[in-house]
Amino acid sequence: MKKRLLTGIQSSGTLHIGNYFGAIKPFLEISEDYDSMLMVADYHALTSLRDPAAMRANIMHVVKDYLALGVNPSQVVIFKQSDVPAHTELAWIFNCLVTVPFLQQAHAYKDKVAKGLEANAGLFTYPMLMAADILLYDTDVVPVGADQKQHIEYAREAAMKFNNAFGTTFKEPQELIMESIATIPGTDGKKMSKSYGNTIPLFGTKDEIASAVMGIVTDSTGDFPHHVHAIHKLFQADGDLIPLYEEHKGKYKHLKEALIEDIERIIAPMREIRTHITDADVKTVLEEGVLRARAQADAKMQVVRERVGVSLA
Ligand code: ADP
Ligand code: TRP
Repeated sequence: MKKRLLTGIQSSGTLHIGNYFGAIKPFLEISEDYDSMLMVADYHALTSLRDPAAMRANIMHVVKDYLALGVNPSQVVIFKQSDVPAHTELAWIFNCLVTVPFLQQAHAYKDKVAKGLEANAGLFTYPMLMAADILLYDTDVVPVGADQKQHIEYAREAAMKFNNAFGTTFKEPQELIMESIATIPGTDGKKMSKSYGNTIPLFGTKDEIASAVMGIVTDSTGDFPHHVHAIHKLFQADGDLIPLYEEHKGKYKHLKEALIEDIERIIAPMREIRTHITDADVKTVLEEGVLRARAQADAKMQVVRERVGVSLA
């Protein structure tokens, strides 16, 4: 029997190349070797998105993106978190097992508080919903970017706490992080993230991509544009880049144009495929996916309810 792999992506915006290289590409590379599931984390997105039209549009976008990038729905179960109520139900049970100080250690929550922003209770308990996503399906491996490592640790803690309290029920999952490209830098050299406004859109038009690349911050004192190179080596073997960067030392504009062409070469074919994927295709994929997800989640929840004692059967 193949091991179970599951990953999730929030439907909170459009994909950028950090998502692609940090999460989706590693997922594509290994998903065939596993019994794989891909979940749209729409309830996680609700911690920061309060616009129903945008929510619907984002869900459509994210599924289209994954299909265009080559995820095959007959091989990978693609489903939406909110379609399987067991996720929020199990998250509640985990919330009852962990302490407030434990959740206060979560980076996502701490960052918000440090910025003086008000964190909602959903954001505070976010790691327990994510633990439920993972543990419901006896997941062995969770491919994610380095920023999500702590969340997988939380999932292991939740499994351990439940198992200790009620008997062994959940597997402890492992994160899978591709160390070499663990954190993709953005146009300012910091981690690429939609919350920092430093992204290069994955399915943007050529013009949008070009304008993001032209905006990459370069150091006017040196003649090697490190931030350009850091992104460039995702699209072209470094062995080929070094001579190019040597030859065009200090010519930032030329090197950025070369990067735009290399990005375009890889992304244009996928962008073309994406234009043919319809909303109806997305609905069909999610309807089929949820049947497979729900069957497993429901079976697991039956055991969980018996273990905690709320089931009288
Ligand atoms: P963002 O930081 O833009 O909000 P998300 O938190 O929605 O991105 O991340 C979705 C997935 O993409 C996660 O698995 C995350 O680890 C990965 N990811 C996001 N940004 C990067 C990055 N700069 N480098 C590597 N992986 C990333
Ligand atoms: N928190 C993850 C992120 O922001 C998304 C996510 C939700 C997830 N549930 C998951 C990732 C389960 C892996 C497994 O990227």
